[in-house]
Amino acid sequence: MIKIAIDGPGGAGKSTVAKAVAARLGIVYVDTGALYRTVGYYVKQAGVDPRDAEGVSALLPDIKIEVKYEDGTQKVYLNGKDLGDAIRTPEMSMYASAVSAIGSVRAFLLDTQRDIAKKNSVIMDGRDIGTVILPDAEVKIFMTASPECRAKRRYKELIAKGVDAKYEDVLAEMNERDKNDSTREIAPTMAAADAIFMDNSDMDFDENVEAVIAIVKEKTGK
Ligand code: DC
Repeated sequence: MIKIAIDGPGGAGKSTVAKAVAARLGIVYVDTGALYRTVGYYVKQAGVDPRDAEGVSALLPDIKIEVKYEDGTQKVYLNGKDLGDAIRTPEMSMYASAVSAIGSVRAFLLDTQRDIAKKNSVIMDGRDIGTVILPDAEVKIFMTASPECRAKRRYKELIAKGVDAKYEDVLAEMNERDKNDSTREIAPTMAAADAIFMDNSDMDFDENVEAVIAIVKEKTGK
């Protein structure tokens, strides 16, 4: 069993790179942001302010989240329903960021994340994987890129999905979300002391995947 933790801000390419590395190594890719997005979705449906810690905490007993792997793809079920791309909108990014600052939400999702890593070899991406969720991970990488570079990637993703987005709005929203995520009191976006820092601003996708694989090989001999 192996545990690989990839942390970093939004748009750093963590998920696409981690997915490719998982496929190469035959291990499970875990997208932890999807869990916070799912909680955010429920909170929005309930009409509760995502920054209202008490209001959000009161909803948690009504939320059942299950993570399943179908054909190697992660599916997150909210009370038995797969939400698909409904959690991928810019609005859900902001909801996820807001609810993720609430301690009860982080505690609520902790075991779900650790249980997957107990049962499978994983590459897990998020903000606090190397620091809080899997502090004993064999490989920890903090992946980032310049804000402009990250916003450009996000913008391209949204346009490819047919979303009517403006680059300036994407950059502003991304900066706001990064600020929320890295300045919150509980488990902020942070590199673990033993993480390897990787700035991929000037790497293409294949180079980035190879760079991660090389670190995994070096650290684990696999
Ligand atoms: O990775 P993402 O963009 O899908 O994450 C959405 C939000 O969830 C992000 O803004 C902060 C939060 N998050 C977190 O706090 N901890 C994680 N491990 C993953 C995501």
